[in-house]
Amino acid sequence: MKIIKTVEDFKKIRSELGEKSLGFVPTMGGLHNGHLSLIKRAISENDVSAVSVYLNPTQFNDKKDLETYPANFADDCALLEKAGVDYLFAPTYPVMYPDDYKYMLTEKDFSHELCGAKRPGHFDGVLTVVMKLFNIVRPTRAYFGEKDYQQYKLLDGMVKAFFLDVQLVPCPIVREENGLAISSRNRKLSAEGLAKAPKFHEILASGGSEAEIAEKLEKAGFKVDYVTIKDKRLYAAVFLEDVRLIDNVER
Ligand code: PAF
Repeated sequence: MKIIKTVEDFKKIRSELGEKSLGFVPTMGGLHNGHLSLIKRAISENDVSAVSVYLNPTQFNDKKDLETYPANFADDCALLEKAGVDYLFAPTYPVMYPDDYKYMLTEKDFSHELCGAKRPGHFDGVLTVVMKLFNIVRPTRAYFGEKDYQQYKLLDGMVKAFFLDVQLVPCPIVREENGLAISSRNRKLSAEGLAKAPKFHEILASGGSEAEIAEKLEKAGFKVDYVTIKDKRLYAAVFLEDVRLIDNVER
């Protein structure tokens, strides 16, 4: 696996690849089996594969959340190497933001709902960094997990609004056997928290109105951030031991 740290180097490699299809998985590190499922698809469905590991500060409204994000670059590299990824793009802040985030991409509607209402500026940061990554990597296909379904929908809207030549591939949520959606943030939970966390998905899948689900979650020891049904999907975010967990199920 080749590790690339600058925009110029990645662009050079991309132009040398010519017409070859490139499957891309953007990540913030802290890689787990959820990422691995996207990476396996990117490898199997394209001529070459690329993963980015970049902990993007502009999408964190909470400094503590950014500082405690469980990422380990050496572990990530080992996992990517073992999976058979061709290129790892691992830039720094000055590389990604030569403008110091004076320019941003924003969406005026859905990005202010659900997670966007609770995390101001979050989706501006996501859309901006993914647009930058797409311009550098020029992927044929880009793979996103459906755990962040709102993120996927907003990126899909961005691709359509700006006529981007990339095919977004939404991938099903990868869950532990107990139903807990796999997430880097699960690593922040204590053993007790981890034992309680699967109740989150169990309650979401149990049916009922938004208010009934919120009540069941609070009773089970979660602090509810939001529970919203929209476009035949139930979205929810909760806090458990100060760790924010999100999930969604079709309705
Ligand atoms: O889903 C994520 O891990 C991030 O939001 C992404 C898409 C890599 C952008 O930083």
